[in-house]
Amino acid sequence: MPSLYIQTYGCQMNVYDSQRLADAMEHSHQMTQVSSPEDADLLVVNTCSIREKAQEKTFSEVGRWRRLKQKKPSTIIAVVGCVASQEGEAIIRRAPYVDIVLGPQTLHQLPRLYDQVKSTQKPCVDVSFPEIEKFDALPDRASDGPCALISVMEGCSKYCSYCIVPYTRGEEISRPFDDILVEASQLVDQGIKEITLLGQNVNDYRGLTPEGHEADLALLIHYLAAFDGLERIRFTTSHPTAFSDTLIDCYAEEPKLAAHLHLPVQSGSNKILSLMKRDYTVELFQEKIEKLKSKRPDISISSDFIVGFPGETEQDFQDTLSLVKSIYFDRSFSFIYSPRPGTPAANLFDPETLDSKKDKLKRLQDLLNHQSQTISRQMVGSIQQVLITQINENRPEEVIGRTENNRIINAIGDTSHIGQLHPMRIKTARPHSLEAEFCLDA
Ligand code: 5AD
Ligand code: SF4
Repeated sequence: MPSLYIQTYGCQMNVYDSQRLADAMEHSHQMTQVSSPEDADLLVVNTCSIREKAQEKTFSEVGRWRRLKQKKPSTIIAVVGCVASQEGEAIIRRAPYVDIVLGPQTLHQLPRLYDQVKSTQKPCVDVSFPEIEKFDALPDRASDGPCALISVMEGCSKYCSYCIVPYTRGEEISRPFDDILVEASQLVDQGIKEITLLGQNVNDYRGLTPEGHEADLALLIHYLAAFDGLERIRFTTSHPTAFSDTLIDCYAEEPKLAAHLHLPVQSGSNKILSLMKRDYTVELFQEKIEKLKSKRPDISISSDFIVGFPGETEQDFQDTLSLVKSIYFDRSFSFIYSPRPGTPAANLFDPETLDSKKDKLKRLQDLLNHQSQTISRQMVGSIQQVLITQINENRPEEVIGRTENNRIINAIGDTSHIGQLHPMRIKTARPHSLEAEFCLDA
Protein backbone atom coordinates (compact mmCIF):
# COMPACT_ATOMS: atom_id res chain seq x y z
CA MET A 1 0.00 0.00 0.00
CA PRO A 2 1.39 3.45 -0.85
CA SER A 3 1.57 5.84 2.09
CA LEU A 4 1.06 9.51 2.75
CA TYR A 5 2.57 11.93 5.27
CA ILE A 6 0.95 15.35 5.81
CA GLN A 7 2.53 18.17 7.80
CA THR A 8 -0.05 20.86 8.58
CA TYR A 9 0.70 24.44 9.61
CA GLY A 10 -1.71 27.27 10.37
CA CYS A 11 -5.40 27.52 11.15
CA GLN A 12 -8.19 24.97 11.61
CA MET A 13 -9.13 25.47 7.96
CA ASN A 14 -5.81 23.86 7.09
CA VAL A 15 -6.42 21.05 9.56
CA TYR A 16 -9.76 20.44 7.85
CA ASP A 17 -8.23 20.60 4.35
CA SER A 18 -5.54 18.10 5.38
CA GLN A 19 -8.18 15.67 6.66
CA ARG A 20 -10.07 15.95 3.38
CA LEU A 21 -6.85 15.44 1.41
CA ALA A 22 -6.09 12.29 3.36
CA ASP A 23 -9.65 11.03 2.68
CA ALA A 24 -9.23 11.82 -1.04
CA MET A 25 -5.91 9.96 -1.36
CA GLU A 26 -7.28 7.01 0.54
CA HIS A 27 -10.33 6.90 -1.73
CA SER A 28 -8.38 7.21 -4.99
CA HIS A 29 -5.10 5.40 -4.21
CA GLN A 30 -5.86 3.40 -1.00
CA MET A 31 -3.11 5.48 0.60
CA THR A 32 -2.68 5.13 4.33
CA GLN A 33 -1.51 8.05 6.42
CA VAL A 34 1.76 7.53 8.31
CA SER A 35 3.19 9.51 11.20
CA SER A 36 6.74 9.81 9.93
CA PRO A 37 7.94 11.29 6.60
CA GLU A 38 10.69 8.62 6.24
CA ASP A 39 8.13 5.95 5.36
CA ALA A 40 5.93 7.90 2.96
CA ASP A 41 5.56 7.75 -0.84
CA LEU A 42 3.78 11.10 -0.92
CA LEU A 43 4.88 14.00 1.32
CA VAL A 44 2.49 16.95 1.64
CA VAL A 45 3.08 20.19 3.49
CA ASN A 46 -0.10 22.21 4.00
CA THR A 47 1.19 25.73 4.48
CA CYS A 48 0.31 29.01 6.19
CA SER A 49 1.46 32.47 5.12
CA ILE A 50 -0.30 34.59 7.74
CA ARG A 51 3.04 35.67 9.24
CA GLU A 52 6.57 35.52 7.86
CA LYS A 53 7.68 32.90 10.38
CA ALA A 54 4.87 30.53 9.38
CA GLN A 55 5.80 30.98 5.73
CA GLU A 56 9.49 30.19 6.32
CA LYS A 57 8.54 26.86 7.93
CA THR A 58 7.44 25.65 4.47
CA PHE A 59 10.90 25.95 3.01
CA SER A 60 12.68 24.42 5.97
CA GLU A 61 10.26 21.46 5.87
CA VAL A 62 10.71 20.72 2.16
CA GLY A 63 14.45 21.28 2.57
CA ARG A 64 14.49 18.36 5.05
CA TRP A 65 12.43 16.23 2.68
CA ARG A 66 14.92 16.77 -0.15
CA ARG A 67 17.27 14.29 1.51
CA LEU A 68 14.50 11.70 1.74
CA LYS A 69 13.87 12.10 -1.96
CA GLN A 70 17.57 11.66 -2.71
CA LYS A 71 17.42 8.30 -0.88
CA LYS A 72 14.11 7.28 -2.50
CA PRO A 73 13.72 9.18 -5.81
CA SER A 74 10.16 7.93 -6.40
CA THR A 75 8.93 10.06 -3.44
CA ILE A 76 6.53 12.80 -4.52
CA ILE A 77 6.63 16.14 -2.66
CA ALA A 78 3.59 18.44 -2.70
CA VAL A 79 3.35 21.98 -1.30
CA VAL A 80 -0.28 23.00 -0.82
CA GLY A 81 -2.25 25.79 0.88
CA CYS A 82 -1.61 29.49 1.35
CA VAL A 83 2.15 29.71 0.66
CA ALA A 84 1.57 27.66 -2.49
CA SER A 85 -1.14 30.10 -3.54
CA GLN A 86 1.04 33.11 -2.90
CA GLU A 87 4.29 31.84 -4.38
CA GLY A 88 3.04 29.55 -7.19
CA GLU A 89 5.80 28.50 -9.61
CA ALA A 90 8.40 30.37 -7.55
CA ILE A 91 8.31 27.40 -5.15
CA ILE A 92 9.58 25.07 -7.89
CA ARG A 93 12.28 27.58 -8.81
CA ARG A 94 13.43 27.85 -5.19
CA ALA A 95 13.02 24.11 -4.45
CA PRO A 96 13.21 22.19 -7.77
CA TYR A 97 12.65 18.84 -6.02
CA VAL A 98 9.02 19.86 -5.28
CA ASP A 99 6.66 18.04 -7.67
CA ILE A 100 3.21 19.52 -6.99
CA VAL A 101 2.05 23.00 -5.95
CA LEU A 102 -1.68 23.45 -5.18
CA GLY A 103 -3.56 26.39 -3.67
CA PRO A 104 -6.31 25.98 -1.06
CA GLN A 105 -9.03 25.91 -3.76
CA THR A 106 -7.43 23.24 -5.95
CA LEU A 107 -6.50 20.63 -3.34
CA HIS A 108 -8.96 18.15 -4.83
CA GLN A 109 -6.61 17.88 -7.84
CA LEU A 110 -3.99 16.03 -5.80
CA PRO A 111 -5.06 12.44 -6.73
CA ARG A 112 -4.99 13.28 -10.46
CA LEU A 113 -1.75 15.26 -10.32
CA TYR A 114 -0.06 12.54 -8.27
CA ASP A 115 -0.64 10.11 -11.18
CA GLN A 116 0.36 12.73 -13.75
CA VAL A 117 3.68 13.51 -12.03
CA LYS A 118 4.40 9.80 -11.63
CA SER A 119 3.97 9.22 -15.35
CA THR A 120 5.46 12.46 -16.80
CA GLN A 121 8.11 13.20 -14.11
CA LYS A 122 7.28 16.90 -14.66
CA PRO A 123 6.20 19.28 -11.86
CA CYS A 124 2.60 20.58 -11.78
CA VAL A 125 1.33 23.90 -10.40
CA ASP A 126 -2.35 24.87 -10.00
CA VAL A 127 -3.04 27.81 -7.70
CA SER A 128 -6.17 29.09 -9.45
CA PHE A 129 -9.49 29.94 -7.77
CA PRO A 130 -11.85 27.84 -9.92
CA GLU A 131 -15.60 28.46 -9.81
CA ILE A 132 -16.43 24.82 -9.12
CA GLU A 133 -16.79 23.72 -5.54
CA LYS A 134 -13.74 21.78 -4.45
CA PHE A 135 -16.04 19.99 -2.01
CA ASP A 136 -18.02 18.43 -4.88
CA ALA A 137 -14.87 16.62 -5.97
CA LEU A 138 -14.00 15.27 -2.53
CA PRO A 139 -15.23 11.89 -1.26
CA ASP A 140 -17.60 11.47 1.70
CA ARG A 141 -16.22 12.09 5.14
CA ALA A 142 -14.80 9.47 7.44
CA SER A 143 -14.96 10.36 11.11
CA ASP A 144 -12.07 10.01 13.53
CA GLY A 145 -13.04 10.60 17.17
CA PRO A 146 -16.17 12.38 18.46
CA CYS A 147 -15.32 15.90 17.16
CA ALA A 148 -15.41 17.03 13.53
CA LEU A 149 -14.61 20.17 11.57
CA ILE A 150 -16.84 21.24 8.67
CA SER A 151 -15.80 24.05 6.36
CA VAL A 152 -18.89 26.11 5.49
CA MET A 153 -17.21 28.87 3.53
CA GLU A 154 -13.91 29.56 1.85
CA GLY A 155 -11.92 32.76 1.54
CA CYS A 156 -12.44 36.24 2.94
CA SER A 157 -13.64 39.52 1.43
CA LYS A 158 -12.90 41.75 4.42
CA TYR A 159 -9.42 42.86 3.25
CA CYS A 160 -8.09 43.94 6.65
CA SER A 161 -5.06 46.04 5.75
CA TYR A 162 -2.48 43.65 7.27
CA CYS A 163 -3.92 40.33 6.13
CA ILE A 164 -2.84 38.05 3.29
CA VAL A 165 -5.84 35.70 3.46
CA PRO A 166 -8.07 37.39 0.81
CA TYR A 167 -5.14 37.08 -1.64
CA THR A 168 -4.21 33.47 -0.83
CA ARG A 169 -7.68 31.99 -0.29
CA GLY A 170 -9.66 34.30 -2.55
CA GLU A 171 -12.98 36.06 -1.94
CA GLU A 172 -15.70 34.55 0.25
CA ILE A 173 -17.67 31.64 -1.22
CA SER A 174 -20.31 29.91 0.93
CA ARG A 175 -21.14 26.25 0.45
CA PRO A 176 -24.77 25.39 -0.33
CA PHE A 177 -26.88 24.95 2.82
CA ASP A 178 -27.95 21.38 2.04
CA ASP A 179 -24.42 20.17 1.26
CA ILE A 180 -23.37 21.14 4.77
CA LEU A 181 -26.40 19.43 6.32
CA VAL A 182 -25.64 16.25 4.35
CA GLU A 183 -21.99 16.28 5.47
CA ALA A 184 -23.06 16.89 9.08
CA SER A 185 -25.66 14.13 9.04
CA GLN A 186 -23.10 11.63 7.65
CA LEU A 187 -20.81 12.56 10.52
CA VAL A 188 -23.54 12.35 13.17
CA ASP A 189 -24.53 8.92 11.80
CA GLN A 190 -20.92 7.87 12.40
CA GLY A 191 -21.17 8.99 16.05
CA ILE A 192 -19.81 12.54 15.91
CA LYS A 193 -20.94 14.53 18.97
CA GLU A 194 -19.35 17.94 18.35
CA ILE A 195 -19.15 19.92 15.11
CA THR A 196 -17.08 23.06 14.58
CA LEU A 197 -18.21 25.13 11.60
CA LEU A 198 -15.24 26.72 9.89
CA GLY A 199 -14.65 29.77 7.75
CA GLN A 200 -12.18 32.64 7.72
CA ASN A 201 -15.16 34.93 8.29
CA VAL A 202 -17.68 32.26 9.24
CA ASN A 203 -20.40 34.54 10.53
CA ASP A 204 -20.80 36.07 7.08
CA TYR A 205 -21.93 32.63 5.84
CA ARG A 206 -24.63 33.05 3.16
CA GLY A 207 -25.43 29.66 1.65
CA LEU A 208 -28.19 29.01 -0.85
CA THR A 209 -31.03 26.69 0.11
CA PRO A 210 -32.49 24.35 -2.57
CA GLU A 211 -35.33 26.91 -2.95
CA GLY A 212 -32.73 29.59 -3.79
CA HIS A 213 -33.03 31.54 -0.51
CA GLU A 214 -29.99 32.77 1.38
CA ALA A 215 -29.42 31.06 4.73
CA ASP A 216 -27.20 32.68 7.37
CA LEU A 217 -25.04 31.06 10.04
CA ALA A 218 -27.80 31.37 12.65
CA LEU A 219 -30.19 29.33 10.48
CA LEU A 220 -27.50 26.72 9.89
CA ILE A 221 -26.96 26.43 13.65
CA HIS A 222 -30.72 26.04 14.25
CA TYR A 223 -30.90 23.20 11.70
CA LEU A 224 -27.83 21.43 13.09
CA ALA A 225 -29.09 21.78 16.66
CA ALA A 226 -32.14 19.73 15.65
CA PHE A 227 -29.92 16.70 14.77
CA ASP A 228 -30.46 13.95 17.34
CA GLY A 229 -27.12 12.71 18.62
CA LEU A 230 -25.23 15.93 17.96
CA GLU A 231 -24.46 17.47 21.35
CA ARG A 232 -22.26 20.49 20.75
CA ILE A 233 -21.81 23.13 18.05
CA ARG A 234 -18.98 25.63 17.72
CA PHE A 235 -17.96 28.03 14.96
CA THR A 236 -14.78 29.90 14.14
CA THR A 237 -13.49 32.47 13.15
CA SER A 238 -15.81 35.40 13.45
CA HIS A 239 -15.50 39.06 12.52
CA PRO A 240 -17.09 41.49 15.00
CA THR A 241 -18.99 43.44 12.31
CA ALA A 242 -20.72 40.32 11.03
CA PHE A 243 -21.50 39.11 14.54
CA SER A 244 -25.23 39.72 14.11
CA ASP A 245 -28.17 39.94 16.50
CA THR A 246 -29.62 36.72 15.05
CA LEU A 247 -26.37 34.96 15.94
CA ILE A 248 -26.39 36.49 19.43
CA ASP A 249 -29.98 35.24 19.85
CA CYS A 250 -28.80 31.72 18.99
CA TYR A 251 -26.91 31.68 22.28
CA ALA A 252 -30.23 32.08 24.12
CA GLU A 253 -32.15 29.67 21.88
CA GLU A 254 -29.72 26.80 21.30
CA PRO A 255 -28.20 25.17 24.37
CA LYS A 256 -26.09 22.97 22.05
CA LEU A 257 -24.13 26.06 21.01
CA ALA A 258 -21.04 25.95 23.25
CA ALA A 259 -20.70 28.77 25.78
CA HIS A 260 -17.50 29.94 24.14
CA LEU A 261 -16.87 32.51 21.45
CA HIS A 262 -13.63 33.33 19.66
CA LEU A 263 -14.04 36.89 18.40
CA PRO A 264 -10.81 38.52 17.20
CA VAL A 265 -10.66 42.21 18.18
CA GLN A 266 -6.97 42.79 17.19
CA SER A 267 -6.63 46.12 19.05
CA GLY A 268 -8.31 48.24 21.73
CA SER A 269 -7.50 51.53 19.98
CA ASN A 270 -9.97 53.05 17.50
CA LYS A 271 -7.08 54.73 15.66
CA ILE A 272 -5.35 51.39 15.07
CA LEU A 273 -8.62 49.59 14.22
CA SER A 274 -9.21 52.20 11.54
CA LEU A 275 -5.65 51.78 10.14
CA MET A 276 -6.26 48.02 10.16
CA LYS A 277 -9.50 48.58 8.18
CA ARG A 278 -11.38 46.54 10.75
CA ASP A 279 -14.57 48.45 10.15
CA TYR A 280 -15.80 48.65 13.81
CA THR A 281 -15.02 50.62 16.93
CA VAL A 282 -14.05 49.44 20.40
CA GLU A 283 -17.44 50.72 21.59
CA LEU A 284 -19.34 48.62 19.04
CA PHE A 285 -17.32 45.54 20.03
CA GLN A 286 -18.11 46.15 23.71
CA GLU A 287 -21.82 46.62 22.93
CA LYS A 288 -21.97 43.27 21.11
CA ILE A 289 -20.25 41.47 23.97
CA GLU A 290 -22.62 43.03 26.51
CA LYS A 291 -25.63 41.87 24.46
CA LEU A 292 -24.13 38.40 24.22
CA LYS A 293 -23.44 38.22 27.95
CA SER A 294 -27.06 39.21 28.63
CA LYS A 295 -28.13 36.09 26.67
CA ARG A 296 -25.41 33.73 28.04
CA PRO A 297 -23.94 35.08 31.25
CA ASP A 298 -21.49 32.13 31.53
CA ILE A 299 -19.96 32.68 28.07
CA SER A 300 -16.18 32.57 27.74
CA ILE A 301 -14.71 34.98 25.20
CA SER A 302 -11.33 34.62 23.54
CA SER A 303 -9.70 36.79 20.92
CA ASP A 304 -6.76 37.50 18.62
CA PHE A 305 -4.49 40.54 19.07
CA ILE A 306 -1.82 42.13 16.92
CA VAL A 307 0.77 44.30 18.68
CA GLY A 308 3.27 46.64 17.06
CA PHE A 309 1.04 47.58 14.14
CA PRO A 310 2.62 50.58 12.31
CA GLY A 311 1.74 53.76 14.24
CA GLU A 312 0.74 52.00 17.49
CA THR A 313 1.82 54.23 20.40
CA GLU A 314 2.18 53.20 24.04
CA GLN A 315 -1.22 54.83 24.65
CA ASP A 316 -2.83 52.74 21.88
CA PHE A 317 -1.31 49.65 23.46
CA GLN A 318 -2.56 50.70 26.91
CA ASP A 319 -6.05 50.95 25.36
CA THR A 320 -5.68 47.30 24.24
CA LEU A 321 -4.68 46.25 27.78
CA SER A 322 -7.71 48.11 29.18
CA LEU A 323 -10.03 46.34 26.77
CA VAL A 324 -8.50 42.97 27.68
CA LYS A 325 -9.27 43.69 31.34
CA SER A 326 -12.77 45.05 30.79
CA ILE A 327 -13.96 42.15 28.60
CA TYR A 328 -11.88 39.76 30.71
CA PHE A 329 -10.79 37.73 27.69
CA ASP A 330 -10.08 34.06 28.24
CA ARG A 331 -7.30 32.00 26.55
CA SER A 332 -6.39 34.13 23.51
CA PHE A 333 -3.80 34.46 20.76
CA SER A 334 -1.47 37.42 20.32
CA PHE A 335 1.10 38.18 17.66
CA ILE A 336 3.68 40.76 16.66
CA TYR A 337 2.59 42.45 13.44
CA SER A 338 4.31 40.84 10.44
CA PRO A 339 4.26 42.86 7.19
CA ARG A 340 2.90 40.69 4.37
CA PRO A 341 3.99 41.50 0.82
CA GLY A 342 1.17 42.91 -1.29
CA THR A 343 -1.04 44.02 1.64
CA PRO A 344 -1.74 47.78 2.10
CA ALA A 345 -0.26 47.88 5.62
CA ALA A 346 3.11 46.66 4.30
CA ASN A 347 3.63 50.18 2.87
CA LEU A 348 3.01 52.00 6.17
CA PHE A 349 5.92 53.77 7.89
CA ASP A 350 6.90 51.74 10.95
CA PRO A 351 9.59 53.27 13.18
CA GLU A 352 9.01 50.96 16.19
CA THR A 353 11.88 48.62 17.07
CA LEU A 354 11.41 44.85 17.31
CA ASP A 355 12.51 44.98 20.96
CA SER A 356 9.72 47.39 21.78
CA LYS A 357 7.18 45.16 19.99
CA LYS A 358 8.48 42.08 21.85
CA ASP A 359 8.11 43.94 25.13
CA LYS A 360 4.49 44.80 24.29
CA LEU A 361 3.77 41.19 23.34
CA LYS A 362 5.15 39.96 26.65
CA ARG A 363 3.09 42.43 28.67
CA LEU A 364 -0.07 41.48 26.76
CA GLN A 365 0.57 37.75 27.06
CA ASP A 366 1.30 38.05 30.79
CA LEU A 367 -2.06 39.76 31.29
CA LEU A 368 -3.94 37.24 29.13
CA ASN A 369 -2.28 34.31 30.92
CA HIS A 370 -3.07 35.79 34.30
CA GLN A 371 -6.75 36.16 33.31
CA SER A 372 -7.11 32.67 31.88
CA GLN A 373 -5.41 31.17 34.96
CA THR A 374 -7.83 33.10 37.17
CA ILE A 375 -10.78 31.71 35.16
CA SER A 376 -9.34 28.18 35.46
CA ARG A 377 -8.96 28.56 39.22
CA GLN A 378 -12.53 29.85 39.49
CA MET A 379 -13.70 26.66 37.76
CA VAL A 380 -12.27 24.47 40.55
CA GLY A 381 -15.18 22.90 42.46
CA SER A 382 -17.66 23.59 39.65
CA ILE A 383 -19.44 20.97 37.55
CA GLN A 384 -18.72 21.18 33.81
CA GLN A 385 -20.11 19.31 30.84
CA VAL A 386 -17.08 17.56 29.33
CA LEU A 387 -16.89 15.74 26.00
CA ILE A 388 -14.44 12.87 26.46
CA THR A 389 -12.42 12.53 23.27
CA GLN A 390 -9.63 9.99 23.87
CA ILE A 391 -7.47 7.91 26.18
CA ASN A 392 -4.36 9.71 27.44
CA GLU A 393 -1.57 7.90 25.54
CA ASN A 394 0.97 8.68 28.25
CA ARG A 395 -1.29 7.49 31.07
CA PRO A 396 -3.66 4.77 29.84
CA GLU A 397 -5.70 4.90 33.06
CA GLU A 398 -6.70 8.48 32.17
CA VAL A 399 -9.06 10.00 29.61
CA ILE A 400 -8.85 13.43 27.96
CA GLY A 401 -11.81 15.69 27.27
CA ARG A 402 -12.87 19.28 26.56
CA THR A 403 -15.07 21.65 28.53
CA GLU A 404 -17.41 24.09 26.79
CA ASN A 405 -14.83 26.85 27.27
CA ASN A 406 -12.28 24.68 25.46
CA ARG A 407 -10.12 23.59 28.35
CA ILE A 408 -8.43 20.21 28.32
CA ILE A 409 -9.59 17.87 31.08
CA ASN A 410 -7.66 14.90 32.47
CA ALA A 411 -9.52 12.33 34.56
CA ILE A 412 -9.34 8.70 35.62
CA GLY A 413 -11.51 6.86 33.11
CA ASP A 414 -11.68 4.27 30.36
CA THR A 415 -12.78 3.72 26.77
CA SER A 416 -16.44 3.43 27.81
CA HIS A 417 -16.42 7.20 28.52
CA ILE A 418 -15.15 8.19 25.05
CA GLY A 419 -17.54 10.01 22.75
CA GLN A 420 -19.97 11.04 25.50
CA LEU A 421 -20.72 14.28 27.32
CA HIS A 422 -20.33 13.81 31.06
CA PRO A 423 -20.91 16.11 34.02
CA MET A 424 -17.53 16.37 35.75
CA ARG A 425 -16.30 18.08 38.88
CA ILE A 426 -13.13 20.15 38.45
CA LYS A 427 -10.54 19.25 41.08
CA THR A 428 -7.35 21.13 40.18
CA ALA A 429 -6.32 23.87 37.75
CA ARG A 430 -2.99 23.28 35.99
CA PRO A 431 -1.38 25.80 33.59
CA HIS A 432 -2.58 24.01 30.45
CA SER A 433 -5.28 21.65 31.68
CA LEU A 434 -7.71 20.84 34.46
CA GLU A 435 -7.87 17.72 36.57
CA ALA A 436 -11.44 16.44 36.98
CA GLU A 437 -13.55 13.52 38.16
CA PHE A 438 -16.77 12.01 36.85
CA CYS A 439 -19.65 13.00 39.08
CA LEU A 440 -22.54 10.64 39.12
CA ASP A 441 -24.65 12.73 41.51
CA ALA A 442 -24.98 15.77 39.14
N1 5AD B 1 0.76 39.92 11.30
C1 5AD B 1 0.49 39.43 12.53
N2 5AD B 1 -0.64 38.78 12.83
C2 5AD B 1 -1.54 38.60 11.85
N3 5AD B 1 -2.75 38.01 11.82
C3 5AD B 1 -3.26 38.10 10.59
N4 5AD B 1 -2.39 38.74 9.77
C4 5AD B 1 -1.33 39.08 10.54
C5 5AD B 1 -0.11 39.78 10.28
N5 5AD B 1 0.16 40.27 9.08
C6 5AD B 1 -3.37 37.43 13.03
C7 5AD B 1 -4.69 38.10 13.36
C8 5AD B 1 -5.70 37.07 12.96
C9 5AD B 1 -4.94 35.79 13.25
C10 5AD B 1 -5.46 34.57 12.58
O1 5AD B 1 -3.64 36.06 12.80
O2 5AD B 1 -4.74 38.34 14.75
O3 5AD B 1 -6.92 37.15 13.67
FE1 SF4 C 1 -7.80 38.35 7.37
FE2 SF4 C 1 -9.49 40.27 8.17
FE3 SF4 C 1 -10.37 38.26 6.61
FE4 SF4 C 1 -9.72 37.76 9.17
S1 SF4 C 1 -11.39 39.11 8.46
S2 SF4 C 1 -9.12 36.53 7.34
S3 SF4 C 1 -7.99 39.16 9.48
S4 SF4 C 1 -8.88 39.83 6.03
